[in-house]
Order: sequence, then C-alpha cells, then structure tokens
Amino acid sequence: MSVVQIWQSKMEALRGKASVRILALESSCDETAAAVVENGREILSSVIFSQVDTHALYGGVVPEIASRAHVDACDRVIDQALKEADMTLSDVDALAVTYGPGLVGALLTGVSCMKGISFATGLPLVPVNHIEGHVSANYLTTPTLTPPYVCLVASGGHSHLVRVDDYGVYTLLGQTVDDAAGEAFDKGARALGLAYPGGPLLSKLAEGGNDAYLKLPHPNPEGRYDYSFSGLKTAFINACHKLEQKGEPLPRADLAASYQKAIVDSLCEKAVLALKNSGLNTLCLAGGVSANRLLRAQMSELSKREHFTLCMPELILCTDNAAMIGSAAYFRLQRGEIADLALNAMPSLALL
Ligand code: KG4
Ligand code: ZN
Repeated sequence: MSVVQIWQSKMEALRGKASVRILALESSCDETAAAVVENGREILSSVIFSQVDTHALYGGVVPEIASRAHVDACDRVIDQALKEADMTLSDVDALAVTYGPGLVGALLTGVSCMKGISFATGLPLVPVNHIEGHVSANYLTTPTLTPPYVCLVASGGHSHLVRVDDYGVYTLLGQTVDDAAGEAFDKGARALGLAYPGGPLLSKLAEGGNDAYLKLPHPNPEGRYDYSFSGLKTAFINACHKLEQKGEPLPRADLAASYQKAIVDSLCEKAVLALKNSGLNTLCLAGGVSANRLLRAQMSELSKREHFTLCMPELILCTDNAAMIGSAAYFRLQRGEIADLALNAMPSLALL
C-alpha cells in the first residue's frame, strides 16, 4: 500500500470515532511547542519551549538562530508532549503542523519534522494556518463556543477583525493598514529601553502609571473597522526622544501607561463597533496581545456595559502554543483537509 492509501484508510477509520486525538507542532517564530488535543476542545498535554532569552540578546528574533533552535527542540517537545499525555505515537489519530504565516526557516523545520512522522507512521497530517490557531485557542478555553462570532486577532504580526462564520470560514471586517498592535507594543517598549518582546514588559511598567500623562493621536484610518498604529507609535517614540534630549529623566511608567491606553482604546473601539454592526453577540480575543491585562479588563467592562458575550483564551493560550494548532486541526480534519507530501512552508499565508 502507498502512503497515500494508508492515509486514506486511516481517515476512513476516523469517521464516526468518538475521540480523535491530534499531536500538533508549532514552530512559526521563536517558540517550539507540541501538544496533544482531543476533539479540538480538550488539552491532554501542552509543552512550550521558548527561545526568547536567546533572541532577547539581539533585541528581536534572529531567523537563522530560531531555525537552528527549532531543529534541536522539535523531537524533545514532541516526546515530552506524548509523555505528559501518557501516550505513544500509536495512540495518536492524526498530526497537525503550522505551515504559515511566519519565518520561512522556522516553519520549514516544523513542516519537515511532521511530514517525516506522517510518512513513517501513516498518520494523516493537517496543515494549519497560525492565525486560525490563535482564533481556535478560544475553543480550548470556552468549550461551548461555536461560530458565528467576531474575533479580534492581535499578535506581533497581525491586527485583524474577522467574522468567523463557521469553523475555518472567515469574513474580513478590518485589519491594520500599517503596524500590528504587538509590533507597536514592542517598538514602544524599545523606546523605553525594555527588552524583547516588549509588550508584556511595557504592560508591567504601565502599572501605577498615569495614562493621561501623554496625549497621543487617535488613529482614524479610512476603513470603518481598520486599525492604524504607525502614527501613534511614531508620536510616542518622538515624545520619548524629546524628553531624552532635554536631559530629563523619563517618566517611564506614565509614558508606558499613556501608550498602552492609546493602543487598547483603539483595539476596543473598532472591535466593539464591528461586533455591534455584525448583528452577532459574541466577541473573541486572540493572539499575543490578548494577554494584555488592560485590554482584557477594558473589554470585560465593555461586554457588561454593551451586553455581549466575551471569550478570551487563558493567558498561556494567548501567545504561541501548539494546543491551539491541535484545536484548529480537528475542525479541518472533520472536513477531510489533509496534506500530501508536497506540503511546504508558506511564510506569507493569509487567513482569508
Ligand atoms: O501571538 P504571538 O505570541 O506571536 C505572533 O504570532 O506574533 O504575539 C506576540 C506579540 C508580541 O508583539 C508581544 O509583545 C505581544 O504579543 N504581547 C503583549 C503581551 N503579551 C504578548 N502585548 C501587550 N501586552 C502583553 N501582556
Ligand atoms: Zn502567534
């Protein structure tokens, strides 16, 4: 039997199976992560190996170093994830891997690793879009969640407002016309002398700061639900430089609080407007920036005031992990979407 016939027979065997367990791998940026997820909703294990300390030395992710570190870590995180789920490869029903968007070398490492396991074991492999993974983290934290809903995806590379019509079916409502929210956090953090990735550090620094200290522009791009963070970021960096040139000590907590508030206000405003006009009543948050405390608190307030249901992944599922990839893969697998051996890394893969 050819490997394609083996995959097809395994897919047949999965039809109607009550419990489908997927082993997933994520390696699109600087985290090597593996997880086992059951039926798209339950995490049996989730292992995340972060390279952040290595990249912090350079002030950002160095692609070549990331690829090499993924090569080193892939086997280890997969072994660990199986061990923590008390399983071996023969207990796994299918495999999943992130194939884009992300750093090409980093993605290629994961894709090659999982293609190898798929070929050797005959297990079907589901290719997953990283952004869809972030959206799907909500199915893990809120197992009762079903489409349709509106989702704000705010990560290091994306700031999208999407309507999730069905599993894997999206309508783009708006997106950033320039920088992503996470990128704006990271660049602003650098101006305050914080290490990479600056988002969580800036958020910590902002605690107790006066968010009215610095008046920042209110971005207003043409598209009704579009975001723009570039003008905000430049105004903030210029304000920091001006203070430095005067030789004054930077009121770092006040600056951080003002900047964070401006980004979060913008994220909330458009997301709630898009939700209201969608006729839907559920808003989900996704991506690394959804770990931001102020964003979570402000959105919670808004959900009470405006009477909508808010879903947010638990903190560890906001940033990159493989459990979210295993969840997204389950719904793709249900539709029979599996890869063949021509699967390749797609660094610029779009969600829709
Ligand atoms: O989703 P993610 O882990 O990776 C990408 O797919 O990009 O997002 C990483 C981004 C970084 O820009 C990081 O600074 C930001 O999410 N981030 C935060 C927080 N935690 C992570 N930004 C603000 N506040 C946080 N607590
Ligand atoms: Zn991500």
